[in-house]
Amino acid sequence: MANASGLLSPAVAPSVRRRLNPPIGVFQSGSWFSEGVSRRIVCSSTVQGAEKLSPSKSGVPRLVSRGCKLVGCGSAVPRLQISNDDLSKIVDTSDEWISVRTGIRNRRILSGKDSLTDLAAEAAKKALQMAEVDPDDVDLVLLCTSTPEDLFGSAPQIQKALGCKNNPLAYDITAACSGFILGLVSASCYIRGGGFNNVLVIGADALSRYVDWTDRGSCILFGDAAGAVLVQACDSEEDGLFAFDLHSDGEGQRHLRATMNENEKDHELGTNGSLLGLLPKGSSYSCIQMNGKEVFRFAVRVVPQSIELALEKAGLPGSSIDWLLLHQANQRIIDAVAARLELPSERVISNLANYGNTSAASIPLALDEAVRKGKVKAGHKIATAGFGAGLTWGSAIIRWG
Ligand code: ACO
Repeated sequence: MANASGLLSPAVAPSVRRRLNPPIGVFQSGSWFSEGVSRRIVCSSTVQGAEKLSPSKSGVPRLVSRGCKLVGCGSAVPRLQISNDDLSKIVDTSDEWISVRTGIRNRRILSGKDSLTDLAAEAAKKALQMAEVDPDDVDLVLLCTSTPEDLFGSAPQIQKALGCKNNPLAYDITAACSGFILGLVSASCYIRGGGFNNVLVIGADALSRYVDWTDRGSCILFGDAAGAVLVQACDSEEDGLFAFDLHSDGEGQRHLRATMNENEKDHELGTNGSLLGLLPKGSSYSCIQMNGKEVFRFAVRVVPQSIELALEKAGLPGSSIDWLLLHQANQRIIDAVAARLELPSERVISNLANYGNTSAASIPLALDEAVRKGKVKAGHKIATAGFGAGLTWGSAIIRWG
């Protein structure tokens, strides 16, 4: 049996390994290797469309190569635009300070009855349209978000909005600004190891709902948006996810967090000793607390390292990359990473000026704009990386189309 990531489960691995000597591909943190040759495996017994395959006589599932590619994208942003000048009316700041220090000029913010789930569904519909995939053919919806509109996850509401009749699994992934990269890698594992064919990966966040609008050090950075990509199964020769690299460091949480409000955790014993006094009260989260300098240092240190590692795993030189597409947090971070990787600014995708930091949405939003403008074309290789709260970070080397 292969588990969701294509790894052999411990219970059956020894016998399967014996039968498949010389060794099958072994998964090594972000790429598949078989005696130096990159190759992908999948368990045929769980593969949809496994009609091409027959079970081996021994009953041991046959392992075949399978790849995944990015075939459609879409995005959606709220109508309300807030400029740096608008912000300077509510906190002590200026357009000059914000644009020089961050590169941001405008951001979009959910207002009134706007819903993040609707935004995510709109982005997903556009991705399906571009991919020419019917909602009924979607096997899985992954909503990467840290700001769901339901504690238990908003992804099933997107499945409902898309009208997928086959009730495909839909669930949320929480990893802040790294969320989309994790979603992409998860999609590839479901496709390669689980037999899924069409996986929607949506990045959507509304950090404006958790921003302290009196804190000029953080409120200037964030905006709301949604972006989506359809990841589709393909032959291994066409595979469009070459390698990835993922990490987290819980120690760094102190630099960037929005934790449960402390006072709501301490519930005191009621004066009359009643059970009610022992029960937790309704909970809420604090606003985003950020040490901007530390987050900045963290990003410029780990992101180039991560991309270099992913490139190495993919066996590709930096010069072969057509585009650098980073989580859009700060233009100075993007420039520093590009300089370290020796990539000229013409090969760097940035739309930060218009939207600010849209967390898990920023990468698919920027990708969608670049694809629709004809900058990113089918066959282009992209080095992409996310980083942020957790702390989490990760990168992937992908091909568009
Ligand atoms: N307008 C005017 N002055 C300001 C503002 C503002 N909006 N914000 C801070 N200042 C002042 C400070 O008070 C300070 O003044 P002082 O020197 O008198 O004390 C001065 O400007 C310098 O402040 P710094 O915080 O040192 O400014 P810095 O150059 O570090 O820029 C910034 C701050 C833009 C936040 C930067 O550190 C940054 O972008 N860090 C990365 C943050 C990030 O990307 N976070 C998101 C991660 S993604 C996620 O998971 C959510």
